[in-house]
Amino acid sequence: MTTTTRTTADWQALDAAHFLHPFTDFQALAKKGSRIIERGENVYLWDTDGHRLFDAMSGLWCVNVGYGQQALIDAATAQMTKLPFYNSFFQTTTPPAVELAELLAEVTPPQFKHVFFAGSGSEGNDTVIRMVRRYWDLKGQPERQVILSRWNGYHGSTMAGASLGGMKYMHAQGGLPIPGIDHIDQPHWLEHGAGMTRDEFGLKAAGWLEQKILEVGPDKVAAFIGEPVQGAGGVIVPPATYWPEIQRICDQYGILLVSDEVITGFGRTGNWFGCETMGTRPDLMTFAKGVTSGYVPLGGVMVGERVAKVLIEQGGEFEHGYTYSGHPVACAVALANIRLMREQRLVERVRDETGPRLAAVFESLRDHPLVGETQSCGLMAALQLVRAKDGTDGRGTPFDPALEVGMVCRGHCFGNGLVMRAVGDRMIIAPPLVMTVEQVDELAGLIRLCLDLTLADLQARGWV
Ligand SMILES: Cc1ncc(COP(=O)(O)O)c(C=O)c1O
Repeated sequence: MTTTTRTTADWQALDAAHFLHPFTDFQALAKKGSRIIERGENVYLWDTDGHRLFDAMSGLWCVNVGYGQQALIDAATAQMTKLPFYNSFFQTTTPPAVELAELLAEVTPPQFKHVFFAGSGSEGNDTVIRMVRRYWDLKGQPERQVILSRWNGYHGSTMAGASLGGMKYMHAQGGLPIPGIDHIDQPHWLEHGAGMTRDEFGLKAAGWLEQKILEVGPDKVAAFIGEPVQGAGGVIVPPATYWPEIQRICDQYGILLVSDEVITGFGRTGNWFGCETMGTRPDLMTFAKGVTSGYVPLGGVMVGERVAKVLIEQGGEFEHGYTYSGHPVACAVALANIRLMREQRLVERVRDETGPRLAAVFESLRDHPLVGETQSCGLMAALQLVRAKDGTDGRGTPFDPALEVGMVCRGHCFGNGLVMRAVGDRMIIAPPLVMTVEQVDELAGLIRLCLDLTLADLQARGWV
């Protein structure tokens, strides 16, 4: 337990003195001071000053069952008491790891019967690269090395994850991407689809994959990886035509399709996995976050039978693994989490109740003077802040990016009890899947309030 007598200022001073936060300008944060989150219950958080926040980001896209679920706490406690750790190297394993592997085979699409456990989404994607290249070696096509992904995709922050990802600002630090990874443009209609319907644009964007395959050489391409809905890039829901065409192209050229389900897995899109929502049949599927609802770290890769059969029957020893592959406490929590999701019918609730309600809320927000395009898929949604709403296709006129209007809006959200994230001028949410329809309406009210406050602020600054 931590020292409870410390004040917010004490925590901030200690934090600034010792803790280098992820994706943070250390000096700027030290001046400003972190917000210290102390407690959570259901969809709400409290900071050390006692302010309540509606956590519309589920922590970091992960606390799907909400805070304070006793079943997960009990599972961790019981497993820690019985056996806090044992490894799955050297021909051993533990009951929770085996049982979770069985349950994952049950809840994932039928091509998946095997899992490789990791500690996070980034580690899972490192495993993807090792596995994909090993597969093609074993198939007698070792020249198939290149993995294709998308600009503005996010696949983690390790050397492999950041390389697969298409965040140019990440590549700029540390000489990335590593060799053998190439990118195509994202299926973002707002950015690339002017003059086209969404469906026309979806086919065009998928066509960029075929062009790249032909450019690299079809016999050199090992796999294509993508998020069913781009999360960190700004909740970009691709046109309905996009993924079926990607699947067709992967089939035509025989390349492996990898679905990065770190955000979209475990119910987020209204099905157990985003590939089911998008209608693809991936060969590999990365997961993390929602598998334990973030209560403890766990990630991994579901390995489809096409790949698993080759690795198992022809592969000999696979020279890869992590100390915490199949960590028994993490697996016990994941078991409790998935069982709870089933008991509470969370996936069905997102599909039939809360998801459609959230979609209606986001559509209705389009009448707000600051809102251009809105998109949603299950319980993830985005709205684009615009300076003016000209035209009829929802594009509107963007703000000067240097103004950082998204951060202004985010400030009003935080100040008024709402955690909403800004990606440029795109405001995004991914609330806990346990939220009720009433809480969707509560969230809608908070978002509208914060948009109104943002508008008044921007008017006062003379920016609109
Ligand atoms: C789609 C996707 N893949 C991979 C990752 C990396 O996961 P982690 O931060 O657990 O390494 C993330 C994290 O947000 C993600 O959104």
